[in-house]
Amino acid sequence: MTGPAGERCLVVARGRAGVYHRLTVAAPAVAATARAGQFVEVRPAADQSLLLRRAFSVHAADAAAGTVEVVFDVVGPGTRALAGVGPGDTVDVLGPFGRPFAPPTPPAGNGGGPPAPQTGSRGGPPACLLVGGGYGTAPLFLLAGDLRARGCPVDVLIGASTAARLLEPEACARLGRSLTVTTDDGSTGRRGVVTDPMPELLARARTRQVYACGPMPMLAAVSRTAAAAGVPCQVAVEERMACGTGICFSCVVPVLDGPGEPGGPSSTGTTRMARSCIEGPVFDGAAVAWAELGLAPTGAGVGLAPAAPGLARSVPAARIPGPSGGSTPGREPDPAPDRAGVGERAP
Ligand SMILES: Cc1cc2nc3c(=O)[nH]c(=O)nc-3n(C[C@H](O)[C@H](O)[C@H](O)COP(=O)(O)OP(=O)(O)OC[C@H]3O[C@@H](n4cnc5c(N)ncnc54)[C@H](O)[C@@H]3O)c2cc1C
Ligand code: FES
Repeated sequence: MTGPAGERCLVVARGRAGVYHRLTVAAPAVAATARAGQFVEVRPAADQSLLLRRAFSVHAADAAAGTVEVVFDVVGPGTRALAGVGPGDTVDVLGPFGRPFAPPTPPAGNGGGPPAPQTGSRGGPPACLLVGGGYGTAPLFLLAGDLRARGCPVDVLIGASTAARLLEPEACARLGRSLTVTTDDGSTGRRGVVTDPMPELLARARTRQVYACGPMPMLAAVSRTAAAAGVPCQVAVEERMACGTGICFSCVVPVLDGPGEPGGPSSTGTTRMARSCIEGPVFDGAAVAWAELGLAPTGAGVGLAPAAPGLARSVPAARIPGPSGGSTPGREPDPAPDRAGVGERAP
């Protein structure tokens, strides 16, 4: 099977990952095809009050066992309902959706999607830095395995507002050759945000590719820091989603437009709205118009034009109700308390 699959799945395990919840389901079709960076949409089968499934990054996929695992934080009715299911219950699972992380590649302008895979590399497999914020670390586990299988040296950098909100730091320590930890409050690791140690890490590890997932302010800052060091950066965004299939336009992200996109040079100076469910959730960090999200990178070398009147931009004509039933706002700042604390200081 190659396309997204819909399954009514048996919950085989439920547990905790620190403050987060872990859910393992028997979903053979999803497990067989899921790739790092993709997501699944899930809701409890018994809960008729939830109109829409909720999106979660694939944290683990075991094709042999036919199981898929997600980790999530309880922030509202959908995740609260999921936190209430247990082994023997059933959940509706749809996926895997979205474009996965692409293999490491040299810097290249891009119309929004992750860079096209490149075969071969000079000087051996490129070193990669994986940056995760809070539960945004979830998709980096699968990715680390893929990169190690390619022979890439992997360094991991994770951050959270406080120690309790780091996702599985002990397991993260086994993902690569080094782990660096930051917390906003200094309760463990280095006090500060994930971008603080990045320049030193990038130089020391001779990093050729950065991958990041976490709250939008963090992704903007990580993209800026990587670009300033001349290192390409792929980001997995967690923009709010409804349909997950490209129909509703609730998940749009502004990306720099370019001829021949995706993969072409971003030279027109205009932006367009990309649906992160089908063109993402993984984007080239240098192609996201962070300024239009109100997250304007200010550092040198990023090459993003500030938002300006008249930018070509196809704003979705209509919004449909968001996952919680209310209207889905446009460029809403990240309100989830666990995620807001993981970002960069005012970018
Ligand atoms: C591609 C993708 C991958 C994701 N991966 C994970 C994951 O691995 N683990 C996880 O815990 N969550 C993940 N999320 C976020 C998750 O989908 C939301 O937390 C969930 O939909 C909230 O549903 P709810 O009904 O519990 O809360 P709602 O009532 O829908 O929302 C409760 C609060 O959370 C905020 N919120 C909801 N969705 C988002 C979002 N996407 N970004 C920022 N704030 C949001 C709302 O504004 C509100 O303040 C992911 C989202 C996407 C799009
Ligand atoms: S979530 Fe509906 S178009 Fe992306």
